[in-house]
Amino acid sequence: MRMKLFAGILLVAGLSAASTFAASSKLVVGFSQIGAESGWRTAETESIQSEAKKRGIDLRFSDAQQKQENQIKALRTFLAQRVNAIILAPVVETGWEPILREIKRARIPVILVDRGVKVSDPSLYTTLIASDFVQEGRMAGEWLAKKLDGKGNIVEIQGTAGAAPANDRRTGFAEIIQKHPEMKIIKSQSGDFTRAKGKEVMEAFLKAEGKKINAVYAHNDDMALGAIQAIQEAGLKPGKDIIVVSIDGIKPAFEAMVDGSLNCTVECNPLLGPAAFDAVEAAVAGKPVQKKVIVHDQVYDQATAKDVIGQRKY
Ligand code: AHR
Repeated sequence: MRMKLFAGILLVAGLSAASTFAASSKLVVGFSQIGAESGWRTAETESIQSEAKKRGIDLRFSDAQQKQENQIKALRTFLAQRVNAIILAPVVETGWEPILREIKRARIPVILVDRGVKVSDPSLYTTLIASDFVQEGRMAGEWLAKKLDGKGNIVEIQGTAGAAPANDRRTGFAEIIQKHPEMKIIKSQSGDFTRAKGKEVMEAFLKAEGKKINAVYAHNDDMALGAIQAIQEAGLKPGKDIIVVSIDGIKPAFEAMVDGSLNCTVECNPLLGPAAFDAVEAAVAGKPVQKKVIVHDQVYDQATAKDVIGQRKY
């Protein structure tokens, strides 16, 4: 009797799981996004949302307003909802291990997009789809060293403290600058990847260093565009009196290169939707997934901006 009851419960449980699956044969995917701090971020969100729509995926979207605690809350919600997979763009590199362990126990694949995490066990996530941020920093440094002929004072507006692109873009850039004894990074401060903070930081740099500044290296275009405004308001000519180099390659940066106020941007492609859902579908189907997918980027400056601006997709 007991055995029969147990078998009955199993059968009902099995049926209800099967019927839930049948009722929603759509894949359910949770996407924990950092926020909407930059034009790049908005383009990434759009790419992931539109690709989900194209593939008939039920996407649960959560905007963390640049706070890790909000991302962890969103991940717990996805876990409770038993989504089929999770896409995570982690705001910072550390502090993910406990939640990723819970998700792993529930056998939900985690696809990291754009930024990486530092964990002791790489099996806590399925794959990372991102640009090589160190290489982007090197490309910006090389372009600037050539432009300044190996001489000059640079101020650096960094991204969000603890974020992979802030850490890596600083490292890659510094590696190149160190090779030029007459080039110096005289000030560095975070502008949190936003235009408003980029402007604020540049105003402070101008106050402290004034005409000593030869160039600005901003970790993203939005902060560079904020810095350009600050330079103009200080009565100087961005792009001439102060050289401005940044990273991302968003359309407003191309416009600024065409009008002469931005000198160079290193592209960082945000259109990650197709690659992210290829990985989601493969992981859910139990197929092998490459651990790291590197997105390749290139440098654009004022010499090329006019020719390519019309083809920019973000
Ligand atoms: O992680 C990618 C970076 O995050 C982009 O460079 C920046 O614009 C964004 O906020």
